[in-house]
Amino acid sequence: MSKNVYLPYHATSEKAHIKSMEQYREMHNKSLESTEQFWSEIAAQFHWETPYDINNFYSYNFNVTQGPVQIKWMEGATTNVCYNLLDKNVRNGMGDKVAFYWEGNDPEDYSKITYKKLLEEVCRFSNVLKSKGVVKGDRVAIYMPMVFEIVIAMLSCARIGAVHSIVFAGFSSDSLAERMADCKCKVLVTADSVYRGDKLLNIKSLCDIAMDKAKSFGHEVSTCIVVRHLPRLHRSINTSNGTNGSNSDIIDLHSDVPWTDGRDYWWHDEMDDVEPSCYPVWVSAEDPLFMLYTSGSTGKPKGVLHTTGGYLLYAATTFKYVFDYHPGDIYWCTADIGWITGHSYVVYGPLANGATSVIFEGTPFYPDNGRYWSIIEKYKVTQFYTAPTAIRALMKFGEEPVKKHNLDSLKVLGSVGEPINPEAWLWYYQNIGKERCSIADTFWQTETGGHVITPLPGCTPMKPGSASFPFFGVKPILLDESGKEIEGVGEGYLVFNKPWPGMMRTLFGNHERFQSVYFSKFPGYYCTGDGARRDEDGYFWVTGRVDDMLNVSGHLMSTAEVESVLTEHPDVSEAAVVSRPHPVKGECLYCFVTPNHGVAFTPKLSSELVKKVRESIGPFAMPDVIQHAPGLPKTRSGKIMRRVLRKVAVNDREVGDISTLADEHIVEELFKNRPEKA
Ligand code: PRX
Repeated sequence: MSKNVYLPYHATSEKAHIKSMEQYREMHNKSLESTEQFWSEIAAQFHWETPYDINNFYSYNFNVTQGPVQIKWMEGATTNVCYNLLDKNVRNGMGDKVAFYWEGNDPEDYSKITYKKLLEEVCRFSNVLKSKGVVKGDRVAIYMPMVFEIVIAMLSCARIGAVHSIVFAGFSSDSLAERMADCKCKVLVTADSVYRGDKLLNIKSLCDIAMDKAKSFGHEVSTCIVVRHLPRLHRSINTSNGTNGSNSDIIDLHSDVPWTDGRDYWWHDEMDDVEPSCYPVWVSAEDPLFMLYTSGSTGKPKGVLHTTGGYLLYAATTFKYVFDYHPGDIYWCTADIGWITGHSYVVYGPLANGATSVIFEGTPFYPDNGRYWSIIEKYKVTQFYTAPTAIRALMKFGEEPVKKHNLDSLKVLGSVGEPINPEAWLWYYQNIGKERCSIADTFWQTETGGHVITPLPGCTPMKPGSASFPFFGVKPILLDESGKEIEGVGEGYLVFNKPWPGMMRTLFGNHERFQSVYFSKFPGYYCTGDGARRDEDGYFWVTGRVDDMLNVSGHLMSTAEVESVLTEHPDVSEAAVVSRPHPVKGECLYCFVTPNHGVAFTPKLSSELVKKVRESIGPFAMPDVIQHAPGLPKTRSGKIMRRVLRKVAVNDREVGDISTLADEHIVEELFKNRPEKA
């Protein structure tokens, strides 16, 4: 075993579900060799209205040359995910257990909800959706802040067999419109406004713009249900000496909520009029549960579709083992529910285990940089799951904000969304985990539904920066450029040749694209789009994307989508975007822009472009650098040589072979044109 290996936490490893690597290997082998038996033992812990057939437990085809790609688990069985998350736990005597603590943006604004109450609210909202004509298979778009109602809306969809399509509320109205038009949602659920830090965001106004825009794409949203969130801030302001501004501000803002009668309805008005019970709709294990858009390398977002039975098993099982969850634990995942991490590890995984979790509405920096640590102390959080970008941002403030808080409750720390650099890993391990906690560096994707490569607390010796070993049911394979499997130590394309229950089934409405994006490069394999290395101890190190995708603060986006926004500007002729390493965000956007003939590249144009990207995609996509490019380095066949642009972005003159460029001189021009502050 090589140097710099950190052992899993000792204090509780006695109690850990998986206590040793031997036990892990035994279970992992069983999951691959006796797949049906492994997962059916887990499936038996859930309610199936129509039982699954152990002799026909799963089937798949990954080889496009042999027919359509398909993945099926427990086909023919029927169940309901909401029933398994709520009714089942209430029936098992957990009705009074807290499902979620809610911590508002303002520290004085907090609340909690029990399993029983959550079930009642979900039943009511299921009835509201039904009253608006939503039936099994319909799509419901959700664009909301981190409030209980987002969970209620999701589970209500699951209860009646509707498919939720959540759009992260940091996305622009354009992005929301595009996604709503693509999934043809009948209903949009949203909120009036929300504070993030000291910034007020008028979400409903954005929804109105998006609904208008969706209409121009040919899709009309028939109903919009709006949570009145501002009065809750109002209430907290009355008890918190007005830290968020004066009451009159709030009242004025509230009366400003734009409204279209006949389409828009207040959540609370609708909830008053319905019954608090609603019988679940039994759906097939392979019926869709939800869809969630993720960036595609062509620029058009992909509607990743997850189904019912397999996703439930996988979210539940990964949550239990990867966070070593035990009854009594208090778990907190900081991810927004609008991302897959929030779906699987704020909502589905924790509730499937009857866990108590924290939902946080705010930011790590408000009202001060110790907010995360104060929440851990307040709720005595045992498992904390966040992103490397947040860790790096908080590291900058040193240990002082951390030291003010008692973090003794912590047992497991998680990391997700991008590779965690060893420096951030060590800071997390030493200052937050006090060298007592295991770190689960979880590698996965929107498409995988849950963790696929990750250490297990109490079991896996940790190497900072390595996601280590595959989860149960998962066998990672590395391929070289020719598609040959690499045995032992080596680096290549990270692929899989066998499904696990929680992987996606298709891209909504576009199975062709699903096959061509994920299964055509290497027939017989699901291609993650990431590269990885296997070291001498068998550990996997994910090295990053091998396609034209960027990961900014854990948000995946494609160079193509940013380029298409830049070239929409009337003064821009061409644009090329590359990723540049960034100390906090991991990667950032470095954009090369060629203005139209005769148009000057000015600071005004540059700031207009930054604003345009921000408004068209979302604040997280804001470029760090816009550089004037009199021309782009293109091959004679017209392909942009991005590796040259990546070198310019980091000011590294070792550009390699550029003899195939149509005009080699452009490279020197680009180096000369680097902005001073870049
Ligand atoms: O490149 C990998 C990176 O994030 C991508 C998936 O992004 P998304 O679908 O938005 O899901 C994010 C949350 C699961 C991957 O293809 N990624 C995610 N986790 C890690 C990672 N890269 C390295 N290490 C990780 N732990």
